[in-house]
Amino acid sequence: MSYVKVAEKSEIPVGEMKAVKLGDKDILIANVNGKYYAIGGKCTHRGGDLAKGKLEGTTVICPRHKAQFDVTTGKSVAKPKVPLSQPLKDEPVYKIKVEGEDILILQE
Ligand code: FES
Repeated sequence: MSYVKVAEKSEIPVGEMKAVKLGDKDILIANVNGKYYAIGGKCTHRGGDLAKGKLEGTTVICPRHKAQFDVTTGKSVAKPKVPLSQPLKDEPVYKIKVEGEDILILQE
């Protein structure tokens, strides 16, 4: 297990998000008031690209059917605006740290 650089701070200003890849994982990095969080980058509903959605406070809103996830916990906080056949799963959470200008994620 080691931390791998996935982005630089300048790429993700406060209130912004970025999609990154680590191995085969799609990861969303969000900057909330200068603190960085990393959760799964694809919506657990039907794979919407969360980085193309909206970040409101600590909540990311999926661009496809508006499911919402808390970027600090990965928990789903609102269902999609379409009928669901099964409960919406939470997003995985990744360990993230900043070293100088670099943003790193723990690769397990
Ligand atoms: S794909 Fe994200 S809400 Fe449907």
